[in-house]
Amino acid sequence: MALLITNQGQSICLAFFLVLILAFCSSQASCSRQLYGEDKIMLQRFEEWMAKHGRVYKDAQERELRYDIFKSNVEFIEAFNENKDQRKYTLSINKFADRKNEELRSMRNGYNVRQHLSKKASNSMKGTRNTFFKYENVTEVPPSCDWTTSAVTPVKDQGYDCGSCWAFATVAVVEGLNSIITGNLISLSEQEVIDCSTSLDEDGCQGGFVEKAFEYMIPRNKSLVTEDDYPYLAIDEPVCLADFYNAPSGSITITGYEQVPQNNESALLQAVANQPVSVYIDAEAEEFKHYSGGVYTGPCGTTLTHAVTIVGYDTTEDDGTKYWLVKNSWGEEWGENGYMRIQRDIDAREGLCGIAMGAFYPTA
Ligand SMILES: *[C@@H]1O[C@H](CO)[C@@H](O)[C@H](O)[C@H]1NC(C)=O
Ligand SMILES: *[C@@H]1O[C@H](CO)[C@@H](O)[C@H](O)[C@H]1NC(C)=O
Ligand SMILES: *[C@@H]1O[C@H](CO)[C@@H](O)[C@H](O)[C@H]1NC(C)=O
Repeated sequence: MALLITNQGQSICLAFFLVLILAFCSSQASCSRQLYGEDKIMLQRFEEWMAKHGRVYKDAQERELRYDIFKSNVEFIEAFNENKDQRKYTLSINKFADRKNEELRSMRNGYNVRQHLSKKASNSMKGTRNTFFKYENVTEVPPSCDWTTSAVTPVKDQGYDCGSCWAFATVAVVEGLNSIITGNLISLSEQEVIDCSTSLDEDGCQGGFVEKAFEYMIPRNKSLVTEDDYPYLAIDEPVCLADFYNAPSGSITITGYEQVPQNNESALLQAVANQPVSVYIDAEAEEFKHYSGGVYTGPCGTTLTHAVTIVGYDTTEDDGTKYWLVKNSWGEEWGENGYMRIQRDIDAREGLCGIAMGAFYPTA
């Protein structure tokens, strides 16, 4: 010890003080890091964020790991927001702040959707697929469209550990068509689609395809059951329970589905003007995960790993940026109350994030 203690009483006092400091330190998981200034503020933010999101970690080691990820995400988000001049959107510290991008892969489709789509395209050239597009001659397309006021249920949350985006994107367009035809907006069951379409190469929480989900519904000749009857559990259940429940009254059955001509945002516009449309997109970017508002302009490629639903389109008032209004399945806290606006009509024919590469809607 560096201090020379001469007086007995003083040294007891000092020892007591040291014990107090040690006790204080051991109660703080990251005391060993010697937190000063900014780090201390960051730790405080982390604790507030944990409380807000009800996060509990199994031990100090996991907490430390999560803190490091949180810190690097926060730094990324703040650096982005400071330099967002050329960008048209902002990021925020949302519920994904303690996760690495790689960890969120389970939330995405486990399939190579591009490969799947190109296989289908080559089948259609052999004439085995119906490429009928019923909206091809639609000429009157309004300048904007918003299905959320009439044909879209509240934003849902697929959870962190289930790659069931495809089921959410499918159910949303069925809910939409049902509402447009019958006037009844009924929340329907994703868990039914997950549990009951397994014989069609769907892998539940490991991933699946929107079109295969339609193929489950068509021969069934019955509406999906309601969300309340068959609630979402974010797991693959071993049995299909759909037949235990009645289809809701005043609901349609799906008789088919169509694919919007690929890589053609004008065709996509014709379809969305008439009903919500499911699309595959590339959601791989860090920015996508932390998006909180504005028109998303990238970065993104065309690695189609996620499925969402287009529920409208419009143009911004301030600078005339055209966008698609997209409903996601990551809860209401993400993005603009669960929605994202994605730039529309870009030079690349695939659309931003590949949004025009694989678009589907049901028919009744
Ligand atoms: C669109 O118009 C063309 C030409 O009149 C017609 O051959 C085609 O069947 C129409 N398509 C649809 C979906 O009605
Ligand atoms: C896009 O699709 C529409 C029909 O919906 C068609 O008239 C148009 O020619 C297509 N554009 C391209 C570039 O293929
Ligand atoms: C589907 O169900 C309706 C009403 O229950 C029935 O009228 C119709 O014949 C059924 N269609 C098929 C293809 O089974």
